[in-house]
Amino acid sequence: MAACLQLNAKPFSPLLSPNPVSTRTRKSGRISCSAASPSKRHTITLLPGDGIGPEVISVARNVLNLAASIEGIEFKYQELPVGGAALDLTGVPLPEETLLAAKQSDAVLLGAIGGYKWDKNEKHLKPETGLLKLREGLKVFANLRPATVLPQLVDASTLKREVAEGVDLMVVRELTGGIYFGKPRGFGTNENGEEIGFNTEVYAAYEIDRIARVAFETARKRKGKLCSVDKANVLEASMFWRKRIMAIALEYPDVELSHMYVDNAAMQLVRDPKQFDTIVTNNIFGDILSDEASMITGSIGMLPSASLGESGPGLFEPIHGSAPDIAGQDKANPLATILSAAMLLKYGLGEENAAKRIEAAVLDTLNKGFRTGDIYSAGTKLVGCKEMGEEVLKSVDSLVLSPV
Ligand code: IPM
Ligand code: MG
Repeated sequence: MAACLQLNAKPFSPLLSPNPVSTRTRKSGRISCSAASPSKRHTITLLPGDGIGPEVISVARNVLNLAASIEGIEFKYQELPVGGAALDLTGVPLPEETLLAAKQSDAVLLGAIGGYKWDKNEKHLKPETGLLKLREGLKVFANLRPATVLPQLVDASTLKREVAEGVDLMVVRELTGGIYFGKPRGFGTNENGEEIGFNTEVYAAYEIDRIARVAFETARKRKGKLCSVDKANVLEASMFWRKRIMAIALEYPDVELSHMYVDNAAMQLVRDPKQFDTIVTNNIFGDILSDEASMITGSIGMLPSASLGESGPGLFEPIHGSAPDIAGQDKANPLATILSAAMLLKYGLGEENAAKRIEAAVLDTLNKGFRTGDIYSAGTKLVGCKEMGEEVLKSVDSLVLSPV
């Protein structure tokens, strides 16, 4: 089955709302539950990438397997290099075989890319270029980045409890256009002979219209509030963005639309983040605001993302980077990747029940007090990446989903 945007699909529960499903402990063990013979098969491309990528992907794969097998789903995996790992192996950050395999699969799960080793490479040989080419090649224009403050982790936020508690927002970021891809771009000299670097922020109507529809649909399935973020007081590309958003809004009279300049949005996100439900914005503002939103939750190590196109496989990845400083030390927080696997099941494959099992297991593991270093606080149990994975597996194994 190919993953795609299911604009008319039945409403999804907001990812990791504090009580996503009611659960009780399952008495039977893993064996009796996986007894059902697999009825659904999907091919998953795993792209571990660099730094902590391989560690978190290996943990997430185990969790994905168990949740899927309980639901009678079978996965075939293909693992390929991307980013720095691909540069070292093949000399390019996105080998053709990797893109082809990704395109031919049902969903793609990526770890992280980048590292000190490749930081000084020329642009076309940077790991980041591989990721951008992958997004472009898969045509995944809609990037969903939820930021939810879990009650268990509210004290991990640097914001005051009363500001952070209850935050549950979704950034819908345009991912394959704007200044990241706009032309002309490059290096040159100006009329005074001085060296310059330049990029172009450009959006065509179709690019804004399609991301607007995804955002309105997303808002409709959440609390029905959409805030479009732009810089329409200065930039023509933003004036046009606002015009198209307003045009598409006519199709969604039930969604409450507001507009905000990006500088104000950056301020409002830390002043009163609960005012936001769904945010839609361009590629670069979305890059920046989603990092800011993630920090409200306390740890970027907790946040997943989904990148979806009109057809073809979706790309699922944690928001965090490759964290080269802790790579290979079993210190990484695998929960963002595990939750990305849940998004893969839900948005990529339409396997809602398996996704709910993972979400519930992550909450259960946090409820039991297990924490990696990035979310550790006094009185909780410090564990490494692998042990956190083992604990989530135990919870997937023991929780029973009650009908919602
Ligand atoms: C992200 C990252 C990427 C981006 C980089 C690694 C190219 O910051 O996914 O937010 O800028 O989109
Ligand atoms: Mg970013």
